[in-house]
Amino acid sequence: MKIAIEIIYLISSILFIFGIKFLGSPKTARKGNLFAAIGMFLAIAATLFDQQVLTFQWIIIGSIIGSLVGIILAVKTPMTGMPQMVGMLNGFGGGASTLVALSEYFKKNPNYPVDQGLVFNLPVDQGIAIILSLLIGGVTFTGSMIAFGKLQGIVTGKVVRYPLQHPLNALLALFVLGAGAYVVINPSMMSIVILITVVSLVLGVLLVLPIGGADMPVAISLLNSYSGLAGSTTGFVLANNELIIAGALVGASGIILTNIMCKAMNRSLMNVVLGGWANAGAAAASSTTSPKGDVKSIDAEELAMLLDSVSSVIIVPGYGMAVGQAQHAVRDLVNLLEKKGVKVRFAIHPVAGRMPGHMNVLLAEAQIPYDKLLAMEDINDDFPNTDVVIVIGANDVVNPAARHDKNSPIYGMPILNVDYAKTVIINKRSMNVGYAGIENELFFYPNALMYFGDSKEAISKLVNEIKNL
Ligand code: TAP
Repeated sequence: MKIAIEIIYLISSILFIFGIKFLGSPKTARKGNLFAAIGMFLAIAATLFDQQVLTFQWIIIGSIIGSLVGIILAVKTPMTGMPQMVGMLNGFGGGASTLVALSEYFKKNPNYPVDQGLVFNLPVDQGIAIILSLLIGGVTFTGSMIAFGKLQGIVTGKVVRYPLQHPLNALLALFVLGAGAYVVINPSMMSIVILITVVSLVLGVLLVLPIGGADMPVAISLLNSYSGLAGSTTGFVLANNELIIAGALVGASGIILTNIMCKAMNRSLMNVVLGGWANAGAAAASSTTSPKGDVKSIDAEELAMLLDSVSSVIIVPGYGMAVGQAQHAVRDLVNLLEKKGVKVRFAIHPVAGRMPGHMNVLLAEAQIPYDKLLAMEDINDDFPNTDVVIVIGANDVVNPAARHDKNSPIYGMPILNVDYAKTVIINKRSMNVGYAGIENELFFYPNALMYFGDSKEAISKLVNEIKNL
């Protein structure tokens, strides 16, 4: 039986690895999801046979409640709410690791619930695994809940400063490690284990609270990695190979994604890991100078005429395209322009929208071929040779202040160089700011034209005007 279960674990681990591999490209992503889901099903089924489960009653009740909540959340959460949802799910992973580590510790401790002075021999590796699970799981749980609150608007999205931020965090982390070492040597100290749990939970709040909204994508992906590490350490606590491997996969892929996001936003990974990245984007939005000048706008009819005489167009989608669900109208626009012989491509910024790959998912949903979607580094040099760029609901990712305004919270973030094109059309509903809360000088540039309106309505109107030409 034991061997059969380990073989099933091995198969499911291989399915996870191929699942992640396939998730690397939009073409194979669905297959990747399916592989990982089958792997997870096998892992859960094998685990239920492996452990000496006395009664399945609670497991079945828990599974039904969990599945119902999961289905309702998945159906109800709009695509734009995915980062919050991912944030919360990371948190649940961390919370589960903390609970498992605590329950394993108390289950093994002969002095529980009342200290009777009995000798408790906890193997060192088990002790270390329990402490690490409590630390990483606790930080992940509360950190993710704060991240969820910030993205949901329940907790302030601004950079929050508090006295002695870094020394305090370092002190608390050192306390957990020191107290943890003490518990590994003297495992019966229940009160210290509880204190370690509480301090880890507090640390999660203190580490994520200072992060401003603009850095949230990096924070979420880092917490995702932490949730994997927490799962992996819990695997050591339970001596479960599958959990160790699956957790390590999440931890490693999460840190790779965090690194990619850091590069996209010009943040240092070390700074993020140490929770000090608030400094990097700390400048208050109000400290930047407001752009001044004339704003020129264009209507659908004029834009249709303009597009009638161009040979190359780059479309830059952003969060506003997701809000307006304009992707299908955008596909109609692409088809029409291509029929006229216009070369149309998409420029995708790595943090456009509200989650990694947000724009790719939306455009794939509208059947826009993958080869038209170009990553920032592959298309940024082409803007000067492009007749018209159409920015649809993007703001921060095309804000030239990132290149030169040292006071801007997004200073240093690589942007799409749309302002280098001959003409830039910006579709959004108003002159309002984007996620980072800063004004965009692009709207005042001489080669910029605002095309105001909800993205879906505005692009559909444009499509009709082009048809009427
Ligand atoms: P944003 O800078 O957030 O700007 C989006 C713009 O869309 C807004 O200025 C808004 O202007 C417009 N808009 C909203 N609804 C619209 C609608 N129905 N029709 C047309 N326009 C609409 O978007 P971005 O350029 O994609 O940049 C993404 C930002 O989000 C970055 O700061 C990034 O750091 C952050 N972020 C990213 C992620 C990931 S992982 N992608 C996760 C969290 C945060 P109006 O109100 O005037 O219409």
